[in-house]
Amino acid sequence: MADALVPTKPHIQARAHVASFAAYEALHRASLADPSGFWRRQAQRVTWFRQFDETVQQDFARAEVAWFLGGKLNASYNCVDRHLAERAEQTAIVWAKDEPGQYERISYRQLHEHVGRLANVLRRFGVRKGDRVCIYLPMMPEAVYAMLACARIGAVHSVVFAGFSADALRDRIADADCRVVLTANEGLRGGKTIPLKKTVDEAIAGLPVHTVLVAQRTATATPMQQGRDRWLADELPKQRACCPVEWMDSEDPLFVLYTSGSTGKPKGQLHTTGGYLVYASYTHELVFDWRPGDVHFCAADVGWVTGHSYIVYGPLCNGATTVLFESTPLHPDAGRYWQVVDDVQANIFYTAPTALRALLRVGDEPVKKHARTSLRVLGSVGEPINPEVWQWYHDVVGDKRCAVVDTWWQTETGGILISALPGATPCKPGSATFPLPGVRPLLVDDQGKELVGNGVSGNLCLAGSWPGQARTILNDHARFQQTYFAMYPGLYFTGDGCRRDEDGYYWITGRVDDVLNVAGHRLGTAEIESALVSHEFCAEAAVVGFPHDLKGQGIYAYVIAGKAAEGVPAAEVEAVLKQVVRKVISPIATPDRIQVVPGLPKTRSGKIMRRILRKVAEANYTELGDLSTLAEPQVVEQIVQGHKAGR
Ligand code: WT7
Repeated sequence: MADALVPTKPHIQARAHVASFAAYEALHRASLADPSGFWRRQAQRVTWFRQFDETVQQDFARAEVAWFLGGKLNASYNCVDRHLAERAEQTAIVWAKDEPGQYERISYRQLHEHVGRLANVLRRFGVRKGDRVCIYLPMMPEAVYAMLACARIGAVHSVVFAGFSADALRDRIADADCRVVLTANEGLRGGKTIPLKKTVDEAIAGLPVHTVLVAQRTATATPMQQGRDRWLADELPKQRACCPVEWMDSEDPLFVLYTSGSTGKPKGQLHTTGGYLVYASYTHELVFDWRPGDVHFCAADVGWVTGHSYIVYGPLCNGATTVLFESTPLHPDAGRYWQVVDDVQANIFYTAPTALRALLRVGDEPVKKHARTSLRVLGSVGEPINPEVWQWYHDVVGDKRCAVVDTWWQTETGGILISALPGATPCKPGSATFPLPGVRPLLVDDQGKELVGNGVSGNLCLAGSWPGQARTILNDHARFQQTYFAMYPGLYFTGDGCRRDEDGYYWITGRVDDVLNVAGHRLGTAEIESALVSHEFCAEAAVVGFPHDLKGQGIYAYVIAGKAAEGVPAAEVEAVLKQVVRKVISPIATPDRIQVVPGLPKTRSGKIMRRILRKVAEANYTELGDLSTLAEPQVVEQIVQGHKAGR
């Protein structure tokens, strides 16, 4: 069956940076013919204190990559100071506070002062170039000031998502050897308070952290340890607003950001200054078709890479007005995003499919209550977006007027690599479409042989570096080399499976580490999941393998029942869905067990924690690991009970 094509919209094309598919193709072709020339020109979008001598050096065999060698610049200067001449009074940050209807606007001039003062506070407490600083702050402007203050003085920030537990925070502080931590007394999200300072106290007990700088978000008092803990409100007024920038080498570290791998120990992805900044700026402008004056609303958290690249560095480097959203999509009701869009007149909106699915479930009413006429581009990130959700985003949220861009990338890639361009790419809902100019994806089979031509599926790799690529895993270059460059020599391996369809469109099929081997047959869990959700009895599904006496691995499917299954006995739902999988894929893909569940264990960024589902599927209820990073930890207990009941 041919996939429906959603054409580009003439009114968007009319003013787009890349205004036709032919223009995109020409740009992409030219970029691959002369990558070094292409990136040398792109690099001129940032301000260099000293121009670079050499565009790129790369040796994938040794996992060594360097960009813009010999160049000197400062990310904070590029995101703040250089805008003062032209747009000092323009709003840099709109803080949409948790309390509905409350906003604070920070101009570039004010941003410059806040960042300078905080940079001087960091200096006062001994932070020097190259030192790592932990930022454990909620979605308040201080989080952005802190990132840019570190960048200003050459310190390396390590932002830890303010929903992580004390144990997770402790591991990250220890791994990066941070001596200074920035936090808040409490966070505020969806009307609930989060005891951040208390968590920090617990996390750093016994660690050599000498200074904790505390922002005040709520009126609640918090114990302060004499000599270690300081209120920012006391320290900031003691410092000058002016802080000279440290000119950094292009390859000096900018930040470290932890991602979970397949093993327990989180990996500190290290990004450097020149390449990362050029790439964040380039992709922000191109993918969201940003232009001066646009209000950019990325609803992610600064604790994830999406927040780093598309709330802070990309938009601010380009001189945008960026929205910092402290709340949740459902607070006080399912219309919150659209209320904010109207209030701040956002032109660009960027969120994750998981949020969209939650909203779709509530229906169209809360969307239609708001005008949304300012919107032009809608983005999606983090997981494959199911075609129905894509279509709803396009038809209902975007009123069929906006471009929808499904953007594929990773913490490791620093910025978007595969995505539609608003004015150029006819979309197939569910496909991330095509690589950006400068990006060369490649599919290989399990032996590492390249799959050429269209209509192929394989492991998604990248041939050749791009400036935003992570340079190493902090303190573990061997692991970096092993994880990304050893599997397919000469290529960067993403860990994702991907199909390039007959028309050359890329479809990310999910992590290949989730591939099952059932009686000698390789089956993608994502494949089985999409079969399940193709039936109206199933709203969402997560499939894992479990040890099976005869087949090696059996198939276990957790499903959230769809509206159509209301009142239908669970046994019948299971039977029908098994039949669906047999029909859509093959009898060999039939789940051994289907368990109807009220919800799935997900991280706050929307990723399903399959590790937990696998443990439950193998009846291993006692080793579920750390549940503190889950959006709704209580679903795990319900899933365990359901599993026990069905044995
Ligand atoms: C993994 C990276 C990139 C910021 C958020 C996640 C999956 C990401 C898409 C997409 C299908 C996607 C991939 C990737 N992913 N975007 N548009 N379509 N899958 O960053 O936590 O580093 O996760 O998320 O599996 O490898 P991350």
